[in-house]
Amino acid sequence: MLILQTPEKMFAACRALRILAQEHSASPVTFGLVPTMGALHDGHLSLVAAAREQCNLVAASIFINPTQFGPNEDLASYPRDFDSDCAKLEAAGVHVLFAPDTATMYPAGNTTTVDPGPIGERLDGASRPGHFRGVATIVTRLFAIAAPDKAYFGQKDAAQVAVLRNITRDLNLPVELAVCPIVREPDGLAMSSRNRYLSAAERSRALVLSRSLTAAKDLARSGETRAEALTAAMLAAFDQDDPDPGARSVSVRVDYAAVVDPETLLPVGDTSNGALLAVAAVVGTTRLIDNLLLPPR
Ligand code: PAJ
Repeated sequence: MLILQTPEKMFAACRALRILAQEHSASPVTFGLVPTMGALHDGHLSLVAAAREQCNLVAASIFINPTQFGPNEDLASYPRDFDSDCAKLEAAGVHVLFAPDTATMYPAGNTTTVDPGPIGERLDGASRPGHFRGVATIVTRLFAIAAPDKAYFGQKDAAQVAVLRNITRDLNLPVELAVCPIVREPDGLAMSSRNRYLSAAERSRALVLSRSLTAAKDLARSGETRAEALTAAMLAAFDQDDPDPGARSVSVRVDYAAVVDPETLLPVGDTSNGALLAVAAVVGTTRLIDNLLLPPR
């Protein structure tokens, strides 16, 4: 696996590798990119596996993008595990890794941003002002640097997917977005780099997020289509005593429990045409998110 640290080298390597790969292939070479912030888990690796299956060449990036963190967020403590990440990506068959440092990506004077507009202020964008501007900016730049045919993202970050679909369409970016399903722990907890922050009791309490989605899904399966009722079911799960007595002392603050259109992230009143159930909560001091797509009835 080639590891490159500057945009210039990554730019050149991606184009050179594409030309080399094309020489050995009769059909057009497809180049896949998997952007990450590292601290890799099986959720990230599922994106790599999909890219390896669907593309001839696969690049990944590891960059903890400071512009998508708010001033009081966890940029400084965000988990960093570069050597182990490299081993995982290499074993998964990634050909090129882009791992720049902050000074290389954001030298003095680098102030251009990509503003996703109102969609960037919904769900996580409402509680994390500027977050999606940071995401849109770095992902647009990664696309410009690597020039992938396909880029892989997880449904885990449903609002991020909606924002990136919008900017890709609005800016006519020549890349196809591939969205992979949420990978969960056996007990239902959505995998996240931030799960590393959780104590055993918090880890147990964190299951309330997936429980709240399951409660709403079960209600939807029984025929309920009113968003209001589904939201109430999600919130009720947070109010119930935790099945694990050891987790009951852990504080949980719901940030949002919402029933929205998965493309616009705007609230829907009725879910007959399908909807995104999305939840965010701070468990102890760790903000976690989870979601579930309800299919059309
Ligand atoms: P990060 O949180 O590292 O996630 C990288 C990719 O992995 C994202 O597309 C995310 O949705 C996906 N992912 C995370 N957990 C997952 C899970 N449990 N199942 C499936 N996919 C999962 O998202 C970011 O980084 C950044 O915002 C980034 C896009 C790299 C821009 O900085």
